[in-house]
Amino acid sequence: MELREWAIRILSADTLKEKLLCPDTLTDEFPGEPLLFNEPVRPVGMEFHKRTKEQKLPPFQNHGKEDNRAICLHRFAGHELLAVEIMAHALTAFPHAPKAFRKGVAHTLKEEQGHVKMYIERMEQLGLRFGDLPLFKHFWNHVPYLTTPIRYVSVMSLTFEMANLDFAPLYGRSFAAFGDVASAALMAQIVKDEIKHVSFGYSWLNKFKGENPAWDSWIANLSPKIQPKRAKGFVVMEENRRKAGIPDDWIEKIKLA
Ligand SMILES: [Fe+2]
Ligand SMILES: [Fe+2]
Repeated sequence: MELREWAIRILSADTLKEKLLCPDTLTDEFPGEPLLFNEPVRPVGMEFHKRTKEQKLPPFQNHGKEDNRAICLHRFAGHELLAVEIMAHALTAFPHAPKAFRKGVAHTLKEEQGHVKMYIERMEQLGLRFGDLPLFKHFWNHVPYLTTPIRYVSVMSLTFEMANLDFAPLYGRSFAAFGDVASAALMAQIVKDEIKHVSFGYSWLNKFKGENPAWDSWIANLSPKIQPKRAKGFVVMEENRRKAGIPDDWIEKIKLA
């Protein structure tokens, strides 16, 4: 299947099965012209809801309760589905980007689909079905700004995915502390993959930025709604960033952001 057709099918899908469609063989011979979606089609029950203050994630001290861990996993699965769609959007929006970049986005998209499935499986074991709780627009709010590949890697890979280098291990540690080995193992897999996704973003930022310094290019290509501090969690996990190839001076600046 062509990348463009695959991406359009994901963005137009009204079933979860179609959102998670993952062909073995993908080609990129007919990338077409830029095609922009303002919003994706969503399966019934998975439409975007407006987030209220009450819909905060259960605090860490309450993770001993299975239901609360399931709520966390549901929220994370929602983020993964958004990532699937944003990556599909990158494929339809940037047909003229380098083939190697598009191939990398497609590979990452497949891993995000894998993450959705992993979260669904685990939340079901904890008694919750995907779609039982509201899902949010979140990343899609920034899509109008993602008009170039460098903006895409700056916002998606180097902000949202970068922040998950802190959040995912923190939640994994919390689940482990309450004896939920399976959920902790799941979070560990997420961290492992996220390191690759951040690394992908950083290496392409460096290719796209020209002579400009990497950090300045990142800042210049953030959506106006996003502050640099969105690229970190409560605690900056320096080691995960190093594994992703992020230089020490960048890590120091992130800590001060
Ligand atoms: Fe993911
Ligand atoms: Fe990711």
